[in-house]
Amino acid sequence: MNQLLNKISLTLSQSHIDSPRLEARRILSFICHQSEDEVALLDRELSAEETQKLNEIIRQRQAHKPLDKILGTKGFYKYDFIVSEDVLSPRPDTEILVEEAIRLLTSDKAQKIIDFGTGSGCILLSLLAENKLWQGQGVDISPKALDIAKQNAALLDVEQQVRWINKGWFDADLGLALDSPVDMIVSNPPYIPSQDIQSLDEEVKNYDPMLALDGGEDGLHHYRQIAKVSSPLLKEGGYILLEVGIYQAQEVAEIFCQAGFNLVKIVSDLGQIARCVILKK
Ligand SMILES: C[S@@+](CC[C@H](N)C(=O)[O-])C[C@H]1O[C@@H](n2cnc3c(N)ncnc32)[C@H](O)[C@@H]1O
Repeated sequence: MNQLLNKISLTLSQSHIDSPRLEARRILSFICHQSEDEVALLDRELSAEETQKLNEIIRQRQAHKPLDKILGTKGFYKYDFIVSEDVLSPRPDTEILVEEAIRLLTSDKAQKIIDFGTGSGCILLSLLAENKLWQGQGVDISPKALDIAKQNAALLDVEQQVRWINKGWFDADLGLALDSPVDMIVSNPPYIPSQDIQSLDEEVKNYDPMLALDGGEDGLHHYRQIAKVSSPLLKEGGYILLEVGIYQAQEVAEIFCQAGFNLVKIVSDLGQIARCVILKK
């Protein structure tokens, strides 16, 4: 099996795939239904069916379809989330927002949370899985994204703690659909400036939904609207946590301060990029 791992890894690296060894282990683990550590030690030939699956996965990967979109899951925070071409694949950078939110929520009290642009549900569901007292409302304009989020809620066993709202933040009746005021709003809205979309990696622009990426002319279009609608939905003293793109933190903080929020802090990701803006009402 080690030979097989080497062979897959070599094929992937020849197709200019980053981290070919890690991906080879993940692919074999998926095919053999065993952990990545176990497949590194496995000592048997693949069956005809497994070989066929392997070839199909490698073919798609060589065409630069992201591995998580091929295998249908992506690890985020403490869990594996179902993903498809209808949702943004959760990014490690977003885990900071989850960690900060957990620190700010009260652990021994019921807490209500709204997630604007929930997508796969990775942020909201990670929070709800942390504490059975917390309840969430996941808002997304995409019904297909909400279908995936629902599946993930079942997977994490938090279905009883969540409601899904298929509306957009530009919808005039959004407030009526939401149970408010809440203790916290979290959001990772689309923030890529429209003119930058074409220069994104193939794996992002061809396989993540455009609806999850396009932030309008300056990338800040959705933040302006979220700032407008959030204040009446949040309790006095409640927090809003926003993921932002590179160089956007200060401008996003200003947009929300102008809407009446107070800046608490800006948190950087592992790459030292200001990534999460935290404000208080
Ligand atoms: C960047 S993705 C974030 C997904 C997920 N929360 C995460 O962090 O991985 C943004 C999400 O916002 C949704 N969205 C885009 N425009 C919207 C709008 N006007 N109203 C509500 N949701 C919207 C998209 O469908 C997408 O699921």
